[in-house]
Amino acid sequence: GAQAAAGTTQAGASQTTPTASTTLTVLYGSQTGNAEGVAELAAERAGAKGFDVTLLSMADASKKTLKAVERLLVVVSTQGDGDPPDPALEFHELMMGRKAPKLAGLRFAVLGLGDASYEHFCQTGKEFDARLAELGGEAIHERMDCDVDYEETAETWIDEVLESLAGDLATPPPTQVAATDASQHVQPRYSKKHPFLAEVLTSQPLNGRDSDKQTLHLELSLEESGLEYLPGDAVGVVPQNDPGHVDELIEMLKFDAESPLEEGRVLRDALLTDFEVTTLTRPFLQQWAEWSQAPELRRLLGEEARDELRDWLHGRQIIDVVEQFPVEGIDAAQFSAALRKLPPRLYSIASSQAAVPDEVHLTVAVVRYETHGRARNGVTTSYLADRIEPGDRVPIYIDRNKQFKLPDDDEAPLIMIGPGTGVAPFRAFLQEREERGAGGDNWLFFGDRRFRSDFLYQSEWLKWRQHGLLTRLDVAFSRDQADKVYVQDRLREQAETLYAWLEAGAYVYVCGDAEFMAPDVHQALRDVIREQGGHGEAGADDYLREMQQEKRYQRDIY
Ligand code: 2AM
Repeated sequence: GAQAAAGTTQAGASQTTPTASTTLTVLYGSQTGNAEGVAELAAERAGAKGFDVTLLSMADASKKTLKAVERLLVVVSTQGDGDPPDPALEFHELMMGRKAPKLAGLRFAVLGLGDASYEHFCQTGKEFDARLAELGGEAIHERMDCDVDYEETAETWIDEVLESLAGDLATPPPTQVAATDASQHVQPRYSKKHPFLAEVLTSQPLNGRDSDKQTLHLELSLEESGLEYLPGDAVGVVPQNDPGHVDELIEMLKFDAESPLEEGRVLRDALLTDFEVTTLTRPFLQQWAEWSQAPELRRLLGEEARDELRDWLHGRQIIDVVEQFPVEGIDAAQFSAALRKLPPRLYSIASSQAAVPDEVHLTVAVVRYETHGRARNGVTTSYLADRIEPGDRVPIYIDRNKQFKLPDDDEAPLIMIGPGTGVAPFRAFLQEREERGAGGDNWLFFGDRRFRSDFLYQSEWLKWRQHGLLTRLDVAFSRDQADKVYVQDRLREQAETLYAWLEAGAYVYVCGDAEFMAPDVHQALRDVIREQGGHGEAGADDYLREMQQEKRYQRDIY
């Protein structure tokens, strides 16, 4: 990324007269790296056009950096409940607050990344867009909001924004710039669009027979792929929809499974591999309301029914809407056009390549539940659990996560908090530290329902505990006693030791549920720091924020 920006800066400088200022800043807020990737692409294309480009993370942005900016492209994602990405939290707070800089003369455009199945879709992008205008900026281009299949929308936005700015450039860039630029970019061999077909070596249940959960341990072969990963990275799995579900849907819609679509595809194949046919999004519902003209749907989509709609959507999927509100007169092509692309799902890697060079391991909780009288299966998890067996091949790619990385310092102590499948990356961390002979202390907090059936990778933790790699192991089995016990309760019980570790420079990692666990753990850490450190509320927040800045508090939550 930095390389692309530096290269393009030179290109820009050589083509413009020194008097005409052509500076452009691409500012990104990214959790897993998607927004960062889009920002890099924007920077690269702006540079190729002749702008003098600066690429900047919100983590490194201040009031001062913004003051000098003439053209600002913002690319920012939104986390689950409408929150900014962790590295953007502080900048977001600054910009939304009273101390935000005046930005008269700034020209800007915002691209939001998000997930349309969430209520607060692209909330952070929307906030920045409104706020930059409020602070005196002038929008170059309408904000665009990207759903999970963000690539196309993002490219359109980049090209349109740069087109709107083309008039700012005195001379068009020489054509050879594009050529140099392309040669600087080696495409990764496998990606979301061109996944590697990894052979399944092992697929084993991690829970005992009497468990009410199903968690899988998968070992995939990377042989001859050349794929590389680091602990903390994730694997993207490109799934297929459940054929039974697809057939039921096609029948309900009274379509012919072989109806031709674009590019020589037929309906059934497209619904199996190209489109998401389960998750219900507001855009789909809006389209369906138009087609069905169902008064109930139109009412639910009205301004007054906001809260009611949220409750109504809960547990409902596309098939429920198709069944409840019959539509006449649309064809297979129209229907598929209303669907979003089937997004790959990310799983935190549970192995270290230092330990298993030709393999990647995943820990997958199989999602099954019932709502509104229908059995539901998670798209990817049921694909992996029910339709894939050892010997089969699964399309995967590596998704880098720069925000969840072991410290360079092998002596630094680690505190790892990972209930449920959140424990996966910590198996990778410990494998890596074992291989490296890293001497730093390691403390794991694990939680799940029951000791007997749900202690994932129990023998491995105990072995590491015995050999001394794992310095401490604290577990919270929530359903083994009348009252729930969670990892955050263990954190509180260990307050004194925990704080001593923090003071000794420990790195804290949290992985797992974003909705309840992560905020609860955050609160517990705050309380521990407040009580043990004699800080006030604000002091504890500062302490954690500083840890975050120093990358000593990293989260991989979903
Ligand atoms: P529960 O399902 O018994 O409530 C992994 O899923 C473990 O995380 C389970 O033991 C689960 O407990 C627990 N869990 C549920 N909510 C949690 C929360 N808010 N914080 C921490 N752990 C939680």
